[in-house]
Amino acid sequence: MNNEKKYYENNEIWNKHPKEQELERIKTVVSLIPADVNTILDAGCGNGILVNYLLDNNIKFSRIYALDRSETALKYVKTEKSQGDISKLNFKDMEFDLVICLEVLEHLNIIDFQNAIQDIQRVAAKYIIISVPNNEKLEEHFIKCPYCKTNFHSTYHLRSFDMNITKSLFNGLGFQNINNLLIGKKESFKYISPFKRYIKKLQKKDIKFNHEVYCPACGAILKSDVISSNKMVKSQISIWSTLIKMLRNIWPKNYNYNWIFALYKRI
Ligand SMILES: C[S@@+](CC[C@H](N)C(=O)[O-])C[C@H]1O[C@@H](n2cnc3c(N)ncnc32)[C@H](O)[C@@H]1O
Ligand SMILES: [Zn+2]
Repeated sequence: MNNEKKYYENNEIWNKHPKEQELERIKTVVSLIPADVNTILDAGCGNGILVNYLLDNNIKFSRIYALDRSETALKYVKTEKSQGDISKLNFKDMEFDLVICLEVLEHLNIIDFQNAIQDIQRVAAKYIIISVPNNEKLEEHFIKCPYCKTNFHSTYHLRSFDMNITKSLFNGLGFQNINNLLIGKKESFKYISPFKRYIKKLQKKDIKFNHEVYCPACGAILKSDVISSNKMVKSQISIWSTLIKMLRNIWPKNYNYNWIFALYKRI
C-alpha cells in the first residue's frame, strides 16, 4: 500500500463530526444541485460527509452512491457504496445524472488525474460538481522528513488549482462550466508576509498536522511531536503569536477563500 493510501486508512481522520467550515462545503454542494437530478455518484466520498448529510436531512434522490478507495472511511458511509478507484470507475456510461467529486483531484498524479477527468465525464449523464482548494500554495504545507530530508505536502496534495484551471477542466469533453463559487472566507494580514515567512522558518513548517503521516519517500512514520521545534524556538514563536494577536483588530487585512466549487452541464 502506498503511503497516501495508508494515511487515509487511519481511523482518527474519519471518526469525527463535521466542523462548521465542512458543513459550509456540504451546504454549498446541495445549493448547486440542479432540480432535474435524480441519481448521484459521490466519487472519493471519504467518510460520507456529503451523502450522509443528504440522507440525514431527508434530501431525497432516487439513488445516492458513494465510492472511495479507503476501506476505513467507507465504514462511516450510510448509503449504497463500494470501494474503488476514481481513475477507473466501474460504472456504465452516463449511469448517474450527477457525479460529484470533492477535494480529491488535488491528490492525483498526472495519469490518475487525466483518467479521473475522463471517467467522471463518461459516467455523468447531465452534470458534474467539483471542489478543489483555491489557489493553494503547496509549499506552505510542506513537511520536511527528519529522516530522509524529503519535502512533501502534509496531506499529499500534488497539484494546485485556480478559477481558470477549474473552469476549463472538462473543456472539449462535452461539458460546459455553468456556475462557480468561492467559499471558506479567510483573512490574512496585509504586509505581514516577511514576518510570516520568518515564523514559518522558526517552526520549520512542522506543526501543521495532527495525525500520523507517512513520508512518501522513505516510509517513516512522522508524528508532529517527532519534529516539533526546540524550546528556544517555541518561545520566539509564542512572542510573535502574542504580538500578532494584539494587532489582529487594527491591522489591515486581505481576504481570500479556501475552496472553489464548480458546476458543469453536459452540452
Ligand atoms: C481530502 S479527502 C475528501 C473526502 C470527501 N470527498 C470530502 O470532501 O470530505 C480525499 C479522499 O479521496 C480519496 N481518494 C484519493 N485517491 C483516490 C482514488 N484514486 N480513488 C478513490 N478515492 C481516492 C481518499 O481515500 C479520501 O477519502
Ligand atoms: Zn523520509
